[in-house]
Amino acid sequence: MNLKDKLIIAKKEGLHQAWLTAYDYPSARLLDESGIDLILVGDSLGMVVLGHKDTIDVTLEEIIHHLKAVRRGVARAPVAADLPYGSYQSPEQALISARRLVDAGADAVKLEGPLRNHITLLKSNEIEVIGHLGMLPQHVREEGGYHRKGKSETEAAALLKASLDLQQAGCCALVLELVEESLSKEISSQLDIPTIGIGSGASCDGQILVTPDLLGLQPWFRPSFVKPKADLATPFQKAVREFITEVKAS
Ligand code: KIV
Repeated sequence: MNLKDKLIIAKKEGLHQAWLTAYDYPSARLLDESGIDLILVGDSLGMVVLGHKDTIDVTLEEIIHHLKAVRRGVARAPVAADLPYGSYQSPEQALISARRLVDAGADAVKLEGPLRNHITLLKSNEIEVIGHLGMLPQHVREEGGYHRKGKSETEAAALLKASLDLQQAGCCALVLELVEESLSKEISSQLDIPTIGIGSGASCDGQILVTPDLLGLQPWFRPSFVKPKADLATPFQKAVREFITEVKAS
């Protein structure tokens, strides 16, 4: 059964999707062995691994490099990868880029925005696509920050319409980022495919987080909607300090 059918059935059965990001072999393997539903090689790579201030500078080559490492660590969960900024400026370019991600091990690709024609072309070439609406991190510079979406009636109506369009174009799931909870609830009730929320409230059909945010690995940056389940930066630095002390004392 293909990924889209599996996701639709899971939604019908009321099973919520728990998705996380990975960028390397060990974390991908730990996530997979923990039972995560899907692993995303997100372009958040730029911020949480490569030290950029946003996702814009991430290249297709960088996603492919990290995707290959993740693929080697995963035996069970589907692996998806982001099409980074600039790699899908036309439907044809999206197809070339998406094929490279599939060749590197992606079971699905994700792209940002209401790009119906891109998705239709990818689907007609048998590539599974995850949509991404709401706040679009690849547009953060022109928007001047990470702003919540769907507050006005006009914006909410446009987002609902775009969600229905992307489902019709063939998406297997839809990530909703920083969308007003009442709207993400409405979108989720109207779609057959699952909505996967990030900062969009509990009414989505699943949730996705950036793994280092969940684990408290980046104390210098914590999005307001994230409730970390661990504080791994503290034991990390404790172990490093113990090692330094031991070596200096020897
Ligand atoms: O790049 C990313 O990690 C994402 C999120 C939805 C988690 O797109």
